[in-house]
Amino acid sequence: MDPEEMLRSLDLERRRGLDLIEAAATLDELEAAQVEVMGRRSPFSAVQKSLGALPPDDRKRVGQAANEVRGALQDALAVRAELLQHLAEDALLEADRLDMSLPGRSPRVGSFHPLTIVEREAVEVFTSLGFRVAEGPEVEDDWHNFQALNIPPDHPARTMKDSLYVNVPGRPELLLRTETSAVQIRTMQSQPPPVFVVAPGRVYRRETPDPTHLPVFQQIEGLAVDEGITFADLKGTLDVFVKAMFGERRRIRLGPAFFPFVEPGCEVGVSCFRCDGAGCRVCGTGWIELLGAGMVHPVVLENCGYDPERYTGFAFGLGIERVALLRYEISDIRLLVDGDVRLLEQFQGVV
Ligand code: FA5
Repeated sequence: MDPEEMLRSLDLERRRGLDLIEAAATLDELEAAQVEVMGRRSPFSAVQKSLGALPPDDRKRVGQAANEVRGALQDALAVRAELLQHLAEDALLEADRLDMSLPGRSPRVGSFHPLTIVEREAVEVFTSLGFRVAEGPEVEDDWHNFQALNIPPDHPARTMKDSLYVNVPGRPELLLRTETSAVQIRTMQSQPPPVFVVAPGRVYRRETPDPTHLPVFQQIEGLAVDEGITFADLKGTLDVFVKAMFGERRRIRLGPAFFPFVEPGCEVGVSCFRCDGAGCRVCGTGWIELLGAGMVHPVVLENCGYDPERYTGFAFGLGIERVALLRYEISDIRLLVDGDVRLLEQFQGVV
């Protein structure tokens, strides 16, 4: 072979080799391409073998060209090999893939407790009338729970509710509040009139549970104090509340009642959902007592620094569990605190 022919052959082999390498779709095909362009029987090898027969100058020239071609082909082989190696690994992973995904398990939707539903609704009725929400502690002192509410130490009204005292050394006056009325005092002490607040919260009494009584239950206290507040305002407010919570079908009954912190005082009952006023095991009398109310006693206003000559007010305290009994026609108040999921499930979706 003359040198020019060898150089042409090398050029041809470079292009043919690069094309073959590029066309190899698998590692096996790439190996075959390598044998084809650089193997012992390849034109490239033939050129190399003929180098020794060339005169020194030509040998150097053709030798250099052959080295360049070898380098280019080897580089192309390495690049292609790496790419095909990756593709082969990806294909292997894809073939080995196990679908571990399961159909999604949707979590069970929770629900609000019926007492939460009732409390929120009731508070909303009052806030829509302009009342704001107030709070007080569940551990109260004797002054807020009794004395300021016109129940001095020797007053017979103290025996109306059996109180639960807490054992804090040096603080014998502390007890679990027996009614949310204590929040009336705290609110009036903290601000001048006018006052329009509702105070929801837990109260505690030493009582034996029965279908309408619990030793721990919840109340919403209401208090309105301003110039010119009358009993008619109280009746109007309660009327709006009862209609909003129970609709038109229930009858309400106002009767006289004694609470030392109001004068006059009254008790509001709603006709029993079970016997509609006839008397049954749930209600006894045909009426379920819902709340106590009245006009704030002048002594209470005075105890809080309000001028009873100028200001008048009404207050009420309603039992949230009793509202729930009537609303959902539940025949035993104890079901509300048993945590029985069969009862709670019935309130799913009720907001
Ligand atoms: C009071 O607690 C007064 N503080 C209410 C009040 C406030 C009167 C402001 C005047 C002015 P009474 O003890 O009646 O009153 O309770 C009020 C309401 O709480 C009752 O009408 C009833 O709905 C509910 N209640 C009372 N005792 C229980 C009990 N053991 N279990 C569940 N609910 C009860």
